[in-house]
Amino acid sequence: MNRRNFLRGTAAASLIGISPKILWGADAPSNRVRLCVAGVHENGRGKAPMARAAEMPGVEVVCVCDVDSRARDWAAKEVEKICGKTPDKALDIRKVLERKDIDGIVGEVPDHWHAPMAWMAMEAGKDVYIEKPCTFCPSEGEILIKVQKKTGRVFQMGNQRRSSVAYARVIKEVRNGIIGEIKYARTWYRNNRKPIGRGAEAPVPEWLNWDLWQGSCPRAPYRIGLVHYNWHWNFKYGMGEITNNAVHYVDVARWAMGLDMPCKVSAIGGRYCGDDDWQWPDTQMLSLEFPEGKMITWEGLSCLPGEKPRDAYAGAMVYGTKGSILFHPRDFCVMYDGVGDAVRMWKADDAKAGNNVEWKPKLDYWHMSNFVDAIRAHDPSLARSPVVDSVRSSHVSLLGNLSIRSGMTLNVDPVTGVPKEKAAMEFWGREYEPGWEHA
Ligand SMILES: NC(=O)c1ccc[n+]([C@@H]2O[C@H](COP(=O)([O-])OP(=O)(O)OC[C@H]3O[C@@H](n4cnc5c(N)ncnc54)[C@H](O)[C@@H]3O)[C@@H](O)[C@H]2O)c1
Repeated sequence: MNRRNFLRGTAAASLIGISPKILWGADAPSNRVRLCVAGVHENGRGKAPMARAAEMPGVEVVCVCDVDSRARDWAAKEVEKICGKTPDKALDIRKVLERKDIDGIVGEVPDHWHAPMAWMAMEAGKDVYIEKPCTFCPSEGEILIKVQKKTGRVFQMGNQRRSSVAYARVIKEVRNGIIGEIKYARTWYRNNRKPIGRGAEAPVPEWLNWDLWQGSCPRAPYRIGLVHYNWHWNFKYGMGEITNNAVHYVDVARWAMGLDMPCKVSAIGGRYCGDDDWQWPDTQMLSLEFPEGKMITWEGLSCLPGEKPRDAYAGAMVYGTKGSILFHPRDFCVMYDGVGDAVRMWKADDAKAGNNVEWKPKLDYWHMSNFVDAIRAHDPSLARSPVVDSVRSSHVSLLGNLSIRSGMTLNVDPVTGVPKEKAAMEFWGREYEPGWEHA
């Protein structure tokens, strides 16, 4: 596959609707789906998808994998509490991939591990659910698409809002013109993240396998403060708030507007709220112009909470010629008319009665159950975040980072996703620890 073609394919913005549920006999031994969840510490993201999988009929979490021994112990007990069966504990995902009794891997690991874990899993004959963004740099998107095509495995990225019943319903109405012709979407994320300090080199803690944590990254001494979580703000291991959070709501806006790849990308920002090890911007604005004459912006305020951070701390506001629609992060939508008055509201429960679970577990559950359905049916096309769409969704955010790192506005070929600016292409790929590159 050459670079010019890797993003070609079906439009990212297809209307997903709800995939058919394969409920009958889900619990029959032949239909049971056996998963390993990797990246499972008590306060991390992995805890939620792990719990949703463990409580799902016909699904067994047979193994939990982590490079932190405390996390392995905690997760094994947690799964046992949920479903009554204690899973195996694994340190090294490569050993898990040798097992014949595992159908799928759920990767809840740091960003530099996403693409390598996904390609290793698919090449070992496993289906894979990998967190967003599925790529650390654009070249990894080329690899993932190629590997998925070759292996035919199910691929799902963890942008769970693609499984929102409320959003899918509203987007159908948006496509039918409920707010006229869509021109613009404003998306945002805000938080009150604290300064992370300066981490000195230190001996590796006894609970951590630092070599496996680094995985494909060139080896470096262990430093205090990176593990867990704050690697997000480090150039080498994370990709900042754009890929952490724009990837959710820019994705919703592209989905609602039926847009694919931008033709112009500009992102500016900086580390304005601290003097510490944080390298990516904490305050930033990403602007995306599309060849259709439409625009999406994303404002990322990592350390400036603003008003009501627990309410609409993130979201997308989609503007049409007759009104606008808010996609609220708590899984509901509000429509405003031509003079800005709220006139209609959609809740997830409007679309799926009888489900009174909290909004957040619900999204995770639906996205995971969609992955499991696709595994049972051996049909990658059932996944709501299949590989090409997921690579594109990740790529749009990565382009923002290419703009930040190069300091340039990018003129992007909307078919291939490749920017014309040579200085930005320096960040198309990344360096790997020898032996960890994709063969
Ligand atoms: N979809 C969402 O809404 C959502 C929300 C939060 C985070 N995330 C994503 O989830 C991922 C994890 O985020 P986090 O905040 O939990 O990070 P974290 O650093 O807090 O936790 C990562 C976990 O992965 C483990 N780990 C690292 N390397 C591993 C390996 N090789 N094998 C097994 N385990 C390994 C770590 O020990 C740790 O337990 C990130 O990619 C993040 O972007 C998604």
